[in-house]
Amino acid sequence: MGKDVIVACDFSTAQATFDFLDLFENEQRKPFVKIGMELYYAEGPSIVREIKRRGHKIFLDLKLHDIPNTVMKAMRVLSQLDVDITNLHASGTKAMMRAALEGLTREDGSRPMLIAVTQLTSTDQQSMENDLLIKEPIDQVVLHYAKCAEECGLDGVVCSPLEAGKVHAACGHSFLTVTPGVRFADGEIGDQKRVMTPRAAKEIGSDYIVVGRPITAAKDPVAAYRRCVEEFIG
Ligand code: C5P
Repeated sequence: MGKDVIVACDFSTAQATFDFLDLFENEQRKPFVKIGMELYYAEGPSIVREIKRRGHKIFLDLKLHDIPNTVMKAMRVLSQLDVDITNLHASGTKAMMRAALEGLTREDGSRPMLIAVTQLTSTDQQSMENDLLIKEPIDQVVLHYAKCAEECGLDGVVCSPLEAGKVHAACGHSFLTVTPGVRFADGEIGDQKRVMTPRAAKEIGSDYIVVGRPITAAKDPVAAYRRCVEEFIG
């Protein structure tokens, strides 16, 4: 899969999600959709099947983290949902990441892409040191987690666009960087702390940008989506 803009559909009901996706009915390019915990826990697997039926690619962002056996079995269930990308926390250890890949791989050998969350962008150096007792610099922790994910055979990581270049340098250019925290140069930042424009994310080498409110809360979401695609993919 090539570069793409993934729209974070952070809605709490199926109806709100479909009302939003209906706006794109006549678009040539169907948005790649991210379904997160809120929508999945509210609506269950049927929301995934319905969005897939409408022809969208799906990133199912459930960030699994449990003992390897449990994650393997959960991934086995998710593999039947036919999503394009799903994810887990790299901090669950290499054993958990390998078990996840095993569970996700279908009998015919196919599987969705699997990417790892390194350190959440809501975690900073201080909270990592105090709460998690990890004393290394956070950028080194992110790179270490990315290397572990790569060694386990995962396809990439979720990271800040500011980290994408370093992740590619350490793990190779085919190792995917999926980057939230994207804002238009003239847009509102909201609660995101470290942001980058779609154009800058392209220049730094992000493979996928995840964009929520700059599209979902725009006056004209279709125009905002087109602008994102134009800046990021050209
Ligand atoms: O609305 P906004 O563009 O900030 O949405 C970004 C999306 O990416 C949200 O769904 C958010 O949960 C997700 N995300 C993030 N930062 C991370 C991981 C995921 O913003 N480190």
